[in-house]
Amino acid sequence: MKAIGSYKALPVNEADAFLDVVVDKPQATGRDILVEVKAISVNPVDTKIRKRPHPDETLRILGWDAAGTVKEVGEGVTMFNVGDDVYYAGCITKSGSNAEYQLVDERIAALKPTSISFGQSAALPLTTITAWEALFDRLGISTNGTDAGKTILMIGAAGGVGSIAIQLASRIAKLNIITTASRKESRDWCLSRGADNVINHYENISDQLETIGHPQVDYVLCLTNISGYWKTITDVIKPQGKICTIVDFFEDANFDLLKLKSASFSFEFMFTRSMHQTEDMSEINFLLSEAAAMIDNGELITTVNKIVSPINADNLRKVHAAIEEGQAIGKYVLEGWA
Ligand SMILES: NC(=O)c1ccc[n+]([C@@H]2O[C@H](COP(=O)([O-])OP(=O)(O)OC[C@H]3O[C@@H](n4cnc5c(N)ncnc54)[C@H](OP(=O)(O)O)[C@@H]3O)[C@@H](O)[C@H]2O)c1
Repeated sequence: MKAIGSYKALPVNEADAFLDVVVDKPQATGRDILVEVKAISVNPVDTKIRKRPHPDETLRILGWDAAGTVKEVGEGVTMFNVGDDVYYAGCITKSGSNAEYQLVDERIAALKPTSISFGQSAALPLTTITAWEALFDRLGISTNGTDAGKTILMIGAAGGVGSIAIQLASRIAKLNIITTASRKESRDWCLSRGADNVINHYENISDQLETIGHPQVDYVLCLTNISGYWKTITDVIKPQGKICTIVDFFEDANFDLLKLKSASFSFEFMFTRSMHQTEDMSEINFLLSEAAAMIDNGELITTVNKIVSPINADNLRKVHAAIEEGQAIGKYVLEGWA
């Protein structure tokens, strides 16, 4: 089968950062399904892992977002049949989706939305899992509307994760959503996904919140390097408020700043369930199925900004270069093998 891989970590501007390769097609066993991959998308995690040194220059196939068709099922599979169209992010410890065929555990896949293409579907899984878990599992926001009207601040929300987090917070939780964005295009994108207010993360956040009448917020979801925002976040979080980040701290943080407000803090890492094979791993099937239904009934809209064809090493390298700039709006997808 065709795949796109690399044998060493190369800068994205080098023409052979990725290679078109041919590798053996895997076989489904246990709870794995074998998916014929029709479309993939690229996330910042791909660019971060691409830069890591390879042990022994072994072939590495990245990619953690795909949509395709089930071609084989393992003997333990109960949730899917051959011929089903699915979407999934997969597991960070397994070979990725930048290949014509990929194995994925059935518990972390779901039937794709029927009303949108494979390309549109491939944009969604990784960011939807992240946003859903951050909002409803880590921040503990109610999915039955009892937190309606509470206010969330999402920092860096025009990218892949923010594009779906805004929609889930709006449609499911009915929150008042304040996002940050620094450019007209990213600001307009946040508003078009459902943000109630957009402020600029490169200007004083506390002052801007004061101006729009929300000096303090119930929740903060940080979608970018949190270190530079930590003091501001601890200032603007309400007493007993909740903070979640999906990005590491790049310097030491003073957690004592949370004490007098009894504010709580959590990390979200969307591969936790799959890499640790947690007992509730099939929650990922549940949330992706819910999101697919919401797409099909028009409650959620696409997060795709750009679709590139075909899926090959050169196009993948160009999309990595765009994502690596850190200024993506929405999602970038590759669809169809040459
Ligand atoms: N923990 C997890 O499970 C998990 C899952 C997914 C992603 N992530 C991580 O979360 C981050 C965001 O992912 P993504 O897919 O949304 O990324 P993305 O699509 O690349 O995000 C791009 C957006 O980031 C904004 N941005 C850039 N620099 C910023 C800054 N200094 N302050 C605030 N916003 C800034 C930009 O907004 P403007 O153009 O408006 O400035 C741009 O629209 C990445 O680091 C990614 O690796 C973690």
